[in-house]
Amino acid sequence: MARSESSAGLQLLPLVIAVAALVAFSPVAGTAQAKADVSMMPWMNQGLSPDERADMVLREMTLDEKIQLVHGDGWGVLRKCSFDDPRSNLGAGFTHGIDRLGIPDINLADSAVGIRMAALQSRYATLLPSGIGAACSWDPDAAFLYGSVIGRELRAQGFNMSIGGGVNIMREPRNGRNFEYAGEDPVLAGTTVGQLMKGLKSQRVMSDIKHYALNDQETGRTVVNVQLDHKAMRESDLLAFEIAIGIAKPSGVMCSYNLVEGDWACENDYLLNHVLKKNFDFKGWVVSDWGATHSTVKAALAGLDQEMPGDDNYFNQPLKQAVESGKVPMSRLDDMVHRILRSMFDAGVVDFPPVRTVVDPFRGREDAQHIAEESIVLLKNDGVLPLEATSTKSILLIGSHADVGVLSGGGSAQVDAPGGNAANPRPGPSLWGEPVYFPSSPLKFIREHATKANVQYNDGKDHGEAARMARSADLVILFTNQPMSEGQDAPTLALPDDQDGLIEGVAAANPNTIVVLETGGPVTMPWVSKVKGILEMWYPGIGGAQALANILFGEVNPSGKLSASFAKSEADLPHPAVPGLETAGAIDSDDQHRKVKPFDLPYTEGARVGYKWFESTGKEPLFPFGFGLSYTTFAYSDLTVDDAARTAKFTVKNTGSREGTEVAQLYASLPSAAKEKYERLVAFQRVKLAPGESKTITLSMNPTFLSVFDTEKDAWQLLPGDYKILAGASSQETPLQSTLHVR
Ligand code: BGC
Repeated sequence: MARSESSAGLQLLPLVIAVAALVAFSPVAGTAQAKADVSMMPWMNQGLSPDERADMVLREMTLDEKIQLVHGDGWGVLRKCSFDDPRSNLGAGFTHGIDRLGIPDINLADSAVGIRMAALQSRYATLLPSGIGAACSWDPDAAFLYGSVIGRELRAQGFNMSIGGGVNIMREPRNGRNFEYAGEDPVLAGTTVGQLMKGLKSQRVMSDIKHYALNDQETGRTVVNVQLDHKAMRESDLLAFEIAIGIAKPSGVMCSYNLVEGDWACENDYLLNHVLKKNFDFKGWVVSDWGATHSTVKAALAGLDQEMPGDDNYFNQPLKQAVESGKVPMSRLDDMVHRILRSMFDAGVVDFPPVRTVVDPFRGREDAQHIAEESIVLLKNDGVLPLEATSTKSILLIGSHADVGVLSGGGSAQVDAPGGNAANPRPGPSLWGEPVYFPSSPLKFIREHATKANVQYNDGKDHGEAARMARSADLVILFTNQPMSEGQDAPTLALPDDQDGLIEGVAAANPNTIVVLETGGPVTMPWVSKVKGILEMWYPGIGGAQALANILFGEVNPSGKLSASFAKSEADLPHPAVPGLETAGAIDSDDQHRKVKPFDLPYTEGARVGYKWFESTGKEPLFPFGFGLSYTTFAYSDLTVDDAARTAKFTVKNTGSREGTEVAQLYASLPSAAKEKYERLVAFQRVKLAPGESKTITLSMNPTFLSVFDTEKDAWQLLPGDYKILAGASSQETPLQSTLHVR
C-alpha cells in the first residue's frame, strides 16, 4: 500500500487515457457513463494490487453504492427481448457501475460454447464445439484457445464478463446440459475448464465458473435436494471446481439452483464460506444463478456476494435494511463489494475496457475447426476409414439435416446461427428448446473431398426409402442426433425418434455403413455390431463439417478420446431412471421445463462417477472413458516411477504407418487403506508421433489427485502405502504397471 504520490501519478497516465476512452466511447453501452475525474482517483494506479485498489474504492463508497454493486438490474432482455436500461449491452445480465468512482458497468453474456443472443443486435458469435466434445481433445492448449475465442468476441461485442465455464461432472449421462460441461472426470474436467477460463482472462474479460454445486441434472433442478457426504463431494464434483479455480483464479463462481444437504446452494455455508472461500481460497465473488437466491440474511451470511439477475430483490433494499439493522454486518457487505471490485481490477476491465469492433468470423471458424478436429472421437472402424477420395463411386448421406448443417445445443448455451437455423429458416432469433442447425454442411464438404463420387442425401424420415437408397450406394454415412437443452434431461439414453430403427434398417440394406453421432452426451447403440464405423462428433461447432470431412478422408488423423463413459444399457447406471422424472409433469410449452415436486436425491454412488462406477461394480461399458481410435497404432513400454519426485516415465511408440497423436493416460489405484475399488486418472499428455517414432514422456502426479479427503482434518491426505500406477490408452487399456511408494 505504501507508495509515493509521484510514483502513483506516473502509473496513472495510461489509466487517464483508458478511463477517458471508457467515458468518451462508452464501449459497453449505448450511452456514455457520466464523466469521472480520474486525477482524483488514486485507485486508478495500475502499480497497486487489485486488493489495494478495491479497498481504496470501497472507502469512498456510500451504502447505496455498495448495494448497487451486489445485485443485477433485472431480467430485462431475457424476459422482454429488450432492456429498459440503455446502458445494458443486451446480455443475460447487467449491473450498473459507479460512475463517479470510474467503476464500469458489468455487462455479462452467457457464453458456454460461444456468445448467446447475438441475433438480437445482428452480431456474429462463433459456435465452438460442445464442452464435452472439446474435453475429448485432452488438450489444455485447445481449451485455452477455446476460452480466448470467447473472450475475444465478448470484448468485440462490448461485454466485460462471461457467464460460462460449466464444470459440473457428468453424474447423470441423460443430463440436458452435459454438452456444456467437460465430462465425467474431475481431473480432466477441472483442467479443461481451468485452461478455458485462463484463455478467457487472457483477453481481459471477467470469467465465471458454474454451476456450484452438484447441479448434475435438469429434472427438478430448482427443487431437488442433493445428498452426498462431504468426503465424496470433495473427491468428485468439488474437486473439478477446486482444480479449475486453482488454475484460472476466475472472477466469479455461480452458485446453482438446487439444494445440497438441505440448504439451497446459494445460501449454503459449507459450500460457499467453508469450501469455496476458505479451503479453495477463492478471491472472486459468488454470483447466484438467475433466480437462485432464496433469502437475504441467510444467503449473505452464507457467502453469496451478488444476486442475479436482480428483480427478485433479496440483495437490493432488503439487504440495505439488513445492514442498517445489523442483521448483516457492514463488514460482510464490504467483503462482497471488495470481491467484485478486486476482480474487475484483476481482470483488467477497469484499465482496458472493451471497445466494440466487428467479430472476426473467419478466425473464429478456423479456431473452432481446429478444436473440432481434436474433439471428434473414432469409436469403431472395421477397416472402412479413412475413405479413399478417388475410389469411392457413390456415397449416400442420410439424416440429421446433413445436407445443410450441424446441430448445436440449446438453452442459455444456445448460440444464434448466422443466417438463422439452417434446418428451419425463419426470421428472428432461435427459440428456447428448438434444435438449431449451424450452416456447416457435411454434404458440401464431403463432396469437396470425394470429387469422383456421386454424393447424395436422404433426410432419413422415411426409413424404407432410406434403406432402399442405401442398397445401391457404395457407402452410407448415417447422421444421427440427440438435441439437448437446459431445462430438461433426455428421458432415456436411446437416440430419439427411433433413429435406432433407421440405423438397423440402413445397416441391413448396406453393411458399409458409418454412423456419425451428433449427441449432447452418451447414447446407447443396440446396432453397434452391425455398422462398419462410428464417429462421435458431438455438437461440433461452426467448423464441424470441415473437421468431419477431414477426418473421414484421412487428412486429419482422429485423436479424440472419450471424456465420458458410454453405458451398454441404462440398467448399468447408478440411477437406471433419471431421478425425479417418474413424478414429473409433461414439458410445459412456455418454459420448456417439467414441473416436479421437491425430492431428495441421494447420490449413493458417492465419488464413483462414470468409469469409477463401472470399474467398482464390475460392469462393462460400451465404450470406456479415455477410449478413442486412430488411423495408426501405438505401443506403450518401460514405465518407471520416481517415488521422490512423484513422476512416472514411459515410452509411447507410433507402430503404424501414419502420423498420429496419442493421448497417453496415467491412472492410480490407491493403497488398500483408501478402500477404493477403482482407479483414478492422475495425469495425461497428448503425444504427436511420426510413423515409427517413439517418445519418452514424464508425467507428474499431483499429490491431491492421489489423496483422499479427510473430513475430520478438513484436508487432503496422502495415505502412506503402495500405489499401483498404470499407463495406457484408456481407462480400460493400461498395459503398463508400476508402483509408487509413499512413506
Ligand atoms: C442458467 C445459467 C445461465 C443463466 C442466465 C440460468 O437459467 O442455469 O447457466 O447463465 O440462466 O441465462
